Amino acid sequence: MSADLAAQDSREHWGSRIGLILAMAGNAVGLGNFLRFPVQAANNGGGTFMIPYFISFILLGIPLMWMEWGIGRYGGRYGHGTIPGMFDRLWQNRAAKYLGVLGIVMPLVVFIYYTVIVGWLLGFAWFSITGDYFGNTTAESMSQYLYAFQNIHDTSQHNGWIGFMFYGITIAAVVYVLSRGVSGGIEKLALYGMPILFFFAVVLMIRVLTLPATAFGSPSEGLAFVWTPDWSALGNASVWLAAAGQVFFTLSLGMGTIHTYASFLSKEDDITLTGLATASTNEFAEVVLGGTVAIPAAVTFFGVTGAMAIAARGSFDFGIIAMAVVFQSLPGPQIVGQIAAFMWYALLFIAGITSSVALASPAMAFMQEEFGYARRKVAVGIGAVALALGLAVVVWNQQGWLGEWDNWAGTFGLVIFAFIEIWIIRLAFGVDRFWTEIHEGADLRIPGFFLFTLRWISPAFITGLLLWWGWVDMLPALLMEGIPPEQIAIRWAARLTMVGMLLVGLLLIRKAWQNPRRGLGSAPRGAAREVV
Ligand code: ALA
Repeated sequence: MSADLAAQDSREHWGSRIGLILAMAGNAVGLGNFLRFPVQAANNGGGTFMIPYFISFILLGIPLMWMEWGIGRYGGRYGHGTIPGMFDRLWQNRAAKYLGVLGIVMPLVVFIYYTVIVGWLLGFAWFSITGDYFGNTTAESMSQYLYAFQNIHDTSQHNGWIGFMFYGITIAAVVYVLSRGVSGGIEKLALYGMPILFFFAVVLMIRVLTLPATAFGSPSEGLAFVWTPDWSALGNASVWLAAAGQVFFTLSLGMGTIHTYASFLSKEDDITLTGLATASTNEFAEVVLGGTVAIPAAVTFFGVTGAMAIAARGSFDFGIIAMAVVFQSLPGPQIVGQIAAFMWYALLFIAGITSSVALASPAMAFMQEEFGYARRKVAVGIGAVALALGLAVVVWNQQGWLGEWDNWAGTFGLVIFAFIEIWIIRLAFGVDRFWTEIHEGADLRIPGFFLFTLRWISPAFITGLLLWWGWVDMLPALLMEGIPPEQIAIRWAARLTMVGMLLVGLLLIRKAWQNPRRGLGSAPRGAAREVV
């Protein structure tokens, strides 16, 4: 047995192909599909948005998704479940591993603020059962309710800490799943969670599409809004940036999480067909389910103009506030609205928690593999870090802490990371060699068009996107243009915290590479070290 196969065999593996597909789908299907997508679509002209969205999906989303599966499986063969080790293998350069810090710290940053939101959704699932917010039948009173719940200093609705309590429960659930391992935790969660999520989404979709028209609008007007393209808007830069950003976020590209999950595959496992299956599942959840619940529901009760006005205020206004009003307006007794509302927030919670475990998994794998810490200890450690930093997100949410992290780690950071990885493949590893690599064990021969895309179009597209985005959005964001003065200090604190986390990550990589027994590749043959 060769050393790399020994390393591969001593790592954990997925239990079944369906488990892998559902776990990867759980990684991708998240708040992005049900909260972010409808808002991006509504804010960028509905049907107009869908054209750059699909173009970005084909030219960036699909090729990058195969690329990340390929990098992940390749790294796993050498005992690396995280980006520093993977980059180190792909590019024989001392700097490569340090660039990989992005693939550990960024998903951790996203994990922290993402789970804060998942906790709020858990709270709303609970308040739907108890009917706590029922009676707040206008967008204004629902806003007050939500903002009070999110604000730890506001006791007008509940004890200020109640929101944080739901965050604590969410973190405890993530720690539990992670400490059960790949097939016993992550895969099991997906095997139970994903079918429930799809069931709830289909029930809600049917309910929304069969709603009677109101004085404001109807479900069919909502569908027409999403599906009527305006070709003239194709020249609008911001629509393209929003569409490409959505493709990144929803497919979990540029995060490092696909890599970690794919590292638990073996060389003989297919990645071409399975990767395509999970990307298609994500798109079904996003475009069909995500696009058919929130937008038609909001258009029915608020009209197209009203729905767009709510969407312009953000994802929470649309997915939490507007939907809470919608559920209270459903025909029939209150219990019908409560059940529908519970299904909505519970499906958001499931979507969020399956993505949360994925976001924490690079940090998990790194500490286990590169330092040899036990799985349970690492899971608890990550939970403790998340609770501490999550408190900062909650306490300073109104001053823009969450928004700042989302901008840098959850938006620009993804493109920066994808830019680095695609150029490493393009210039250091070689596209032809990589093409052969991803076809190992393949059940699907990828059409040659994608080889051309991977070689030329995707690198050019990402580079153009990064420059364009850098100019249009990143630079003004960096200079805090348009930020209220009272938020500037806290936003800087959020940025510096992220920089501090990156520095700690760099130091840990350095320390790990100084350890001669580091990684499974150098572990004694047959030594079974459990990963994630
Ligand atoms: N891809 C995950 C989502 O859409 C992160 O929420």
